[in-house]
Amino acid sequence: MKKLFAVLILAVMPALTFAASEHGPELDKVDIDLTDKAAMQDGARTFANYCMGCHGAKFQRYERVADDLGIPHELMLEKLVFTGAKIGDHMNTGMQAADAKVWFGAAPPDLTLVARVRGTDWLYSYLRGFYEDPARPWGVNNKIFPNVGMPNVLVGLQGRQVVGCKQIQTVVDGKKQFDPLTGAPLTHEACDQLTIVPKSGTLNEEQFDEKVKNLVTFLAYSANPVKLESQRIGTYVLLYLAFFFVFAYLLKREYWKDVH
Ligand code: HEC
Repeated sequence: MKKLFAVLILAVMPALTFAASEHGPELDKVDIDLTDKAAMQDGARTFANYCMGCHGAKFQRYERVADDLGIPHELMLEKLVFTGAKIGDHMNTGMQAADAKVWFGAAPPDLTLVARVRGTDWLYSYLRGFYEDPARPWGVNNKIFPNVGMPNVLVGLQGRQVVGCKQIQTVVDGKKQFDPLTGAPLTHEACDQLTIVPKSGTLNEEQFDEKVKNLVTFLAYSANPVKLESQRIGTYVLLYLAFFFVFAYLLKREYWKDVH
């Protein structure tokens, strides 16, 4: 009986370890949906247009992405492949790692698995976290990755983000504060906040957040293309174990009946 319990506990352990907490700067939360193909298609487009000049996703093939996300092969080749690669090729960057090291001080890492290494909240915060800092070689810094070697490649969409003052909702002991009479949020001016210079980018703040969310959704898919499948299988495995447990227990009772 005890052994069976041990087996059951071991079976659910992996799920428990996900609950482990993270340290570091506070991250903005993003709620991604790995069944949203439209979001992932948009993310794949952004990735090909804005990231693949420097980063690859070398464990991923164009063909697999096209098939998983429901993009016809010709459309994939026309809109998403700029390196002259064939549909069956891996998604390599055109840049040589050695050149990159000279230009940026650090080679841009492969991004196939980055969502698994860093987590989606981290990516979402990082891509929205660039701000102007004249002291840095590219004129930008990042609130999540201080002194980063990457330029702000999405600045044209987001616009210029600067450290400045803005009204933010007051929080006391982790609770957002509201005016007791009107119910309106209580705010105060804070001066170490990132703010976007209005109309300096082609997207407004909400549209930009959506763009980045889609890109992060694509990266999350890319880090684990079989995630949906394994979640489904995992449920069956647990159901099977629970079912098996009942029979094992009944069998054990049957065997030990005459011994006692
Ligand atoms: C002009 C080249 C360039 C482009 C384009 C570029 N990056 Fe980067 N990226 C870099 C460099 C260089 C680094 C390494 C920075 C460092 O270590 O200081 C980096 C680092 C990163 C990291 C941190 C990885 C880690 O775990 O340390 C992420 C995530 C990332 N880039 C995502 C993106 C995404 C998403 C795009 C497209 C929107 C993109 N990058 C476009 C050059 C680039």
